[in-house]
Amino acid sequence: MTAARPLRIAPSILSADFSRLGDEVDAVIAAGADYVHVDVMDGHFVPNISFGVPVMKSIRGVTDRVFDVHLMIAPTDPYLADFAQAGADIITVHAEAGPHLHRSLQAIRALGKKAGVALNPATPVAAIQHVIGDVDLVLVMSVNPGFGGQSFIPESLNKLRQAKALIGGRDIDLEVDGGVTAANARDIVAAGANVLVAGSSVFGGNDPSTYPGRIKAIRDAATTLNA
Ligand code: DX5
Ligand code: ZN
Repeated sequence: MTAARPLRIAPSILSADFSRLGDEVDAVIAAGADYVHVDVMDGHFVPNISFGVPVMKSIRGVTDRVFDVHLMIAPTDPYLADFAQAGADIITVHAEAGPHLHRSLQAIRALGKKAGVALNPATPVAAIQHVIGDVDLVLVMSVNPGFGGQSFIPESLNKLRQAKALIGGRDIDLEVDGGVTAANARDIVAAGANVLVAGSSVFGGNDPSTYPGRIKAIRDAATTLNA
């Protein structure tokens, strides 16, 4: 089964060495990353705090590659304009983060950005059925959000298939986030995903000399048919 949409590998800088974040972004782009996945956590919606607008702004100058911003914060709406101005290209909000998902998605598009919606592992695909016409990207969480380095939840493959069915022929990317490795990338793409977030499987060890091989391994696995 071939992914109809272009494959994108999106390393998550959550697993980067923050003491040299600009260099890490540089290195991962040079290593073949398509997107830079930016995980924003508030210690409220998820049980961890990462970083916010000023940090993202400081690395925006390093590359013109797509910044894929995953907001794990609640509320989201008061911060959307700040992330847009700081250089986000895609802004993804969680379906669980507030009572007015449709309003949040409209707000992102009104800011001229691509609107994404994320689903926690326990949230059914049906939760976004009525906003599917208002999104550019669906993000299926394959771990509980909050931390890098967790194991892929196998049920996520069924979730991806359902999300892909809901998307149908629409111009919407299907992203998967959490526990993605070269070992499961093929199944993930076969289930319908075309944007693969990878944190520890790219940045683990924080040795830039390993990044090209790690990204290539995921990309090769994701594009290998009948292996
Ligand atoms: C989890 C984040 C992920 C995470 C992925 O809350 O949204 O983007 O950094 O890390 P790995 O690939 O290590 O599971
Ligand atoms: Zn993420």
